[in-house]
Amino acid sequence: MGGVRIGILGSGKGSNCRAILEGIRDGSLYADPRLVISDVADAGILEIAREFSVPNEYIPPGNYRTVLEPKAEETLVQKLREAAVEWVVLAGFMRILKTPTLTAFPHRILNIHPSLLPKYPGLEAWKQALAAGESVTGCTVHYVDAGVDSGEIIAQREVPILPNDTAAALHARIQVGERELYPEVLKQLCR
Ligand code: GRF
Repeated sequence: MGGVRIGILGSGKGSNCRAILEGIRDGSLYADPRLVISDVADAGILEIAREFSVPNEYIPPGNYRTVLEPKAEETLVQKLREAAVEWVVLAGFMRILKTPTLTAFPHRILNIHPSLLPKYPGLEAWKQALAAGESVTGCTVHYVDAGVDSGEIIAQREVPILPNDTAAALHARIQVGERELYPEVLKQLCR
């Protein structure tokens, strides 16, 4: 398979990963998914990788909650390098990447976040937007830097907050936007 070599990292169900792999399969996204890595052994994203016959790997994260243990992060970088990955695509990866990964892939790590950054970084951003009484929120694709959801913004998509919205309904609506936006951004970067 040709195209820009990408590695996808995620901790959850993998709906963004699926949208990206579908874009590659239907030929609209010129990328080569070299591997999918998760810090969660039974994450849906690993199932999706198998469904699309993409090499996939679970890396035990160690004992910390918000970062990978140094050894685990070394393993991550090694796997990405072995797979000759050019771009690292975070798709629901719930740990903060540190220097080893950031220096191995300078300006080559992307993330999608469920808010219109710089508003509402961090966890459960849709709940933050709802609690703040916003009428519009959305999603953001951005470069990853050493901060939390603080890197340079590449593209955003607005999503309305409806009267009487629940957190679950809003999150689902944002995710529909994410599944369009992320493949679109990658298409631009992989041309
Ligand atoms: C998405 O909502 C994304 O914004 C956030 O994590 C979630 C991942 O969902 N970073 P999925 O695993 O791609 O379904």
